[in-house]
Order: sequence, then C-alpha cells, then structure tokens
Amino acid sequence: MIKHLIFPGNYIVSEQKELVLEACLGSCVGVTICDKEAKVGGLIHLLLPERTGCSKKDKPELYAKTGLPIFIRALCEAGADKTRMEACVAGGSLIGLVSEIDLDLDIGGRTAEIARGILSSESIPVHQTETGGYLGYRLDLDLKSFNSSINLSAGRPAESHKVFKKPVPDDIARSVSAVRPIPQIALKIIRMINDGNYNMNEVADEIKKDQIITAAVIRLCNSSYFGLKEKIDSINRAFLLIGEKHLFQMIVSASLENSFTDVRQGYSLCKGGLFQHSVGTAVIAEELARFTGIVQPGIAYTAGLLHDIGKVVLDQYISSAYTFFYRRTQIDMVELGEAEKETLGFTHTEAGSLLGESWSLNERLIDTIRHHHHPEHASVDPELVHVVYLADLLMSKFQAGQELGFLNNGNISSRLKKIGLIPSQFSTIVDLIPQRILEGSINLHDMR
Ligand SMILES: [Fe+2]
Ligand SMILES: [Fe+2]
Repeated sequence: MIKHLIFPGNYIVSEQKELVLEACLGSCVGVTICDKEAKVGGLIHLLLPERTGCSKKDKPELYAKTGLPIFIRALCEAGADKTRMEACVAGGSLIGLVSEIDLDLDIGGRTAEIARGILSSESIPVHQTETGGYLGYRLDLDLKSFNSSINLSAGRPAESHKVFKKPVPDDIARSVSAVRPIPQIALKIIRMINDGNYNMNEVADEIKKDQIITAAVIRLCNSSYFGLKEKIDSINRAFLLIGEKHLFQMIVSASLENSFTDVRQGYSLCKGGLFQHSVGTAVIAEELARFTGIVQPGIAYTAGLLHDIGKVVLDQYISSAYTFFYRRTQIDMVELGEAEKETLGFTHTEAGSLLGESWSLNERLIDTIRHHHHPEHASVDPELVHVVYLADLLMSKFQAGQELGFLNNGNISSRLKKIGLIPSQFSTIVDLIPQRILEGSINLHDMR
C-alpha cells in the first residue's frame, strides 16, 4: 500500500483510491474527516492553535483556527456533505518529561481543543480520538476503506536476540577512535566561523579538488531542506546564490553527512534520522540566535550540527541493546542520559566531548556537546549551549518520530530567561521553525 506523509501546515483531500495518508504527531495535532457515502476524505496536520503574530510564514493551514475551516471547505468542494462527515483527532502530546510550565503552555492540548471546538460548531462528530499524553502518535487514513487509525509513532521494536555486552571505558575509547576523522575542510571552516573570518579563497581550491564533497554540497543545496528556489549545479553557482556564510554551512554539513549516516539506527527511528535531526537543530539554532541576538548565528548553526555527534560513537551499543533501551526511554519514560548511563554506563554527551577533543574542536563546541542536555552546567559559552538546547527541544517536540529518547525540559523557565526569552513566547518560538524543517524528512530520505 502506498503511503503519503502529510507535514505540518498541509492537508490532502481525496476521492477513494489505493493510498494511505499518514501524519507523525508530537505536539502537533492531526485531524481526519471522511464522508463515506460520498467516498471523500482527507487529513490535515496542524502545528499550533493559532497564529502568533510573529510568523514569517504565510500559511493559515498551520493553525487550527484558520486551517481546519479551510480543510472542511475543501472537503465540501470535493463532494462531501457536512451532515455525513465523521472526524478523528490525534496528537497534541506533551512529549518527553514534563515541567509545570509545559503543562501551563500545553500548546498541543490547546490546538486539539480549538480543533474539537470547530468540529463541534460544525456538528461534525468525532468518532475516535487520542490526544495529550506523553508519547508521539501516528495517524493514518486509508483512502480505500476511509478508516482512520491511531498508533504510537515509534511503534514497538521486535524482541532483539542479539547478545549485549556492556562496554567498558576502553571499548568507548576504541569506538571514539573508530569514528571516521572529521574532514580537514570541515575543521578549517569551523575554525573560520568561530573566528568570524570567512575567507572563500582559503577553501575554494580544496573544495574544487574534492569531488565527493562537491557533489554532496550540491545535493544538499538542491534538497528542499534548504529551500532554494533555483537549481544549483556548481560550487560557484551556490556561492553566488546563497552567499559565503551559507555555503560554508552547507560544506560543513555535507562533509559530516557520512559520519552521521554510518550509524546503524540505534538512536534513530528512521534511516538518516540522526543527520536530519542534526541539520534541523542547526537551522533552528541559527534562527534562535538571530531572533535573540545573543549568539553569532553561524556559530549556533555549527554547534547545533555537532551537538549529538556522541550518538555516532555509542550507536552500535544502543543498537545491540535496542529493546531494553526502547523500553526504558519510550515506555518507562526515563530521560535519555539516565537510560544511557543504565544501559552503557556512558552518555552520548560524554562520548561526544571525547570525540570533539580527538577532532581538536574548539572549547565552545565541546562545551555545547557536553552540556546540551543540562545547559546550566555550561562554562565556556552558556548562551550558545542554551540556544542549542532549545533548538534540540523544539526538534524533538515538533519533528516527532525521528529520535529515540526524551530530553529533560525541567527548569525551562530559567533556561529561556538565560537567552532573554519568557515562557509566554514559546508559541512564537515554535512559529520560527522554518517550514522546510517541518517538511524535511522525506526530502532528506529521498536524497540518499
Ligand atoms: Fe543530545
Ligand atoms: Fe539532539
């Protein structure tokens, strides 16, 4: 059966056909509506209750208040009759460990409430619903039978029969040295970004000589993850179209892609998930840096890209202990670092800082890698670590279904304050997530 993934701010309305519409929902809310007699149905994926007033996006379908009426109108235009419509509502989870502030904000809960209010005012009955809770959901609509189903987005892993041997520190040290070395070109650019000294001449020749990185940069530029309107076929063209700073970010991302995709999917729930999570966190960190004005955006991008590099080191162990790790993080709701300590005696933040040292990354980046789950422990550049922490949190709440493991979002109020934000700005911050990041997953998968 062919599946079609619907991203936030999008909907599909269709007549009967062999197709399943699907939405992966964290804090977002999905609504399916069908008129079985007219054989018309559809699914909409909503990001927020309503517009925040700070959004750069012109997409009313992102918000329950404006999106749901558009969706219902489209169903009527396709031949559905409101008196026969039936709805199903899912999502709006809190995702992860929950703080009091989270409960107060409860963006997903409010999105679901507005959706249900609109359905009720239109006299459309809700036949099935799963909202709230702490786990992500997957909402499916089978356009052949017009039946909707709601499942846990992570699914349940098959029992693993692999023998798991807990690693000792020497094993971890060996795994750090087994990670492929960081390409020199990436290191050079990371240093330039850190020093605020962008010099294309210094890297141009090296890039042109390296056909593999050149091809990877062009592929990444053309993926809709970066939202470029014009097709890029050479580094020179990319330089002209996106400018020096963005080209440098693309080169670093493309040259690290292989390190991220070498993994066996211990931490990720989908192929390429770790790279996608890293690039998404990088782009959001850059947006947050620009919004708060507290950190240099280029540095925030690099730190976001590298924050979870320790997962590359530990992935092989997590993949052998997958069933246990899955149960601890997804069912027992144990925080990621705690579950890693229990399973391996080591966290990805510790492994990442060891790898960062072996790559001779600067202290600021190593500090971010080490403390991005507990940013108040940062000592080198606390604002940067808080920006990356928040970007990571936004990725896990609004790009649900990619990574295994919950982030600790306690002290969110003081963590936001550290970068000049207040909890009531949370919806505005969510609205800063570029549409291309919300829609990113399929494109990056297709690139591979
Ligand atoms: Fe992490
Ligand atoms: Fe992360």
